[in-house]
Amino acid sequence: MVADVTDENSSANTFTCRICGGTVRQWFDFGPQPISNAFHHPGDAVAGIRYDLVVGICESCTMVQQRHECPRESMFRPDYPYRASGSALMRKHFEQVAERLLMTELTGPDPLVVEIGSNDGVMLRTIRAAGVRHLGVDPSRDAAEVAAAEGIRVRVDFFEQSTAASIRAAEGPADVVFSANTFSHVPYVDGVLRGVAELLAPAGVFVFEDRYLGDIVANSSFDQLYDEHFYLFAARSVREMVARFGLELVDVEHLDVHGGSLRYSVARAGARAPSPAVRDLLEQENRQGLAELSTYEEFAARIEAIRYDLVALLQRLRADGKRVVGYGATSRSATVTNYCGIGPDLVPFVCDSTPEKQGRLSPGSGIPVRPQEEFSRPYPDYALLFAWNHAEEIMSNEREFSEQGGRWIRYVPTVRVL
Ligand code: TMP
Ligand code: ZN
Repeated sequence: MVADVTDENSSANTFTCRICGGTVRQWFDFGPQPISNAFHHPGDAVAGIRYDLVVGICESCTMVQQRHECPRESMFRPDYPYRASGSALMRKHFEQVAERLLMTELTGPDPLVVEIGSNDGVMLRTIRAAGVRHLGVDPSRDAAEVAAAEGIRVRVDFFEQSTAASIRAAEGPADVVFSANTFSHVPYVDGVLRGVAELLAPAGVFVFEDRYLGDIVANSSFDQLYDEHFYLFAARSVREMVARFGLELVDVEHLDVHGGSLRYSVARAGARAPSPAVRDLLEQENRQGLAELSTYEEFAARIEAIRYDLVALLQRLRADGKRVVGYGATSRSATVTNYCGIGPDLVPFVCDSTPEKQGRLSPGSGIPVRPQEEFSRPYPDYALLFAWNHAEEIMSNEREFSEQGGRWIRYVPTVRVL
């Protein structure tokens, strides 16, 4: 099942930009991919869904985007298994985000913050504890129930213009609209940005965080491309995108989380003076060549080299009788395993701390997910670190693995054994 774009201007190597209507030049085709979070039991319907993961860059507005979209209801199902609180580092990160919003933006009388994609409440938990009015919006029922059980207010829904209008009617304007690792998931930015523009108070701010294109290119982290990452944002493309909705990019801040992210602050046009950081980053993006097709053609060659090297390494280890286990059943691992053709024959299981993923099969590859405790029973010879964005936390928790001779396999920016 593939939900294709109705695109009369498409050709073998071009398609129409979802943001500006310009021409998108295709620079990579990962082939058929599953829904990245479709951890499933054998025979579940969701396991059969495939779509072509094709990516390009718009010649006009420079937005890096996918060609085809997955139906949102297939991705963000009621039992969507991802839990943002699954890492100590991310819990700390979102606590700090909330504290900063409380100090800088939520200082007026009875302020309101609305979060798009509130998941298990990892950010709003601190806002609630401070007694500040809030509402999370998330279509994933099970994750929302986790948040609600903590007393966080959540509406189980997709955020779009109609959602925003009804929130504004019921709650009034929002001082802050926040979103982390969600906004790039939806192809229909029109609905979201019209909704944000409708919901924001005149002096309000839309703050969102997402994986940063500049880091993805610099680190060759091709696994950041999967169904949910429909767009790969950068300062230039985001500035252009929000301007179409009467909004302005007023600040950017680089974050180390998730392999390199950017926090964007967007206000009503003219309401806030853009910070020098915006101009500086736009210049840096020019120097990095983020708007040029040749940058992505070179990236494409690096992706192919990683696939070749990783498969060769895993095949050699299997031939040598070594045991390799995956670490972290991430969304990104769907792209790695399916693009590289890595199945249980090369990686017999992947361990993960998320109960909602354990006992299920990884999408496409069929690699079983087992509890983290099974990693040490007994330790494998090698661990393929799919959750490389949590490397520090994981390698420190699993010190004993390295101490007794276990080796970590990393695959971005290049394939290497540590
Ligand atoms: P993420 O990269 O999308 O945050 O996903 C990370 C996955 O790795 C998530 O399924 C939780 C898992 N994980 C572990 O299994 N052990 C750990 O120590 C950490 C930090 C994450
Ligand atoms: Zn465009």
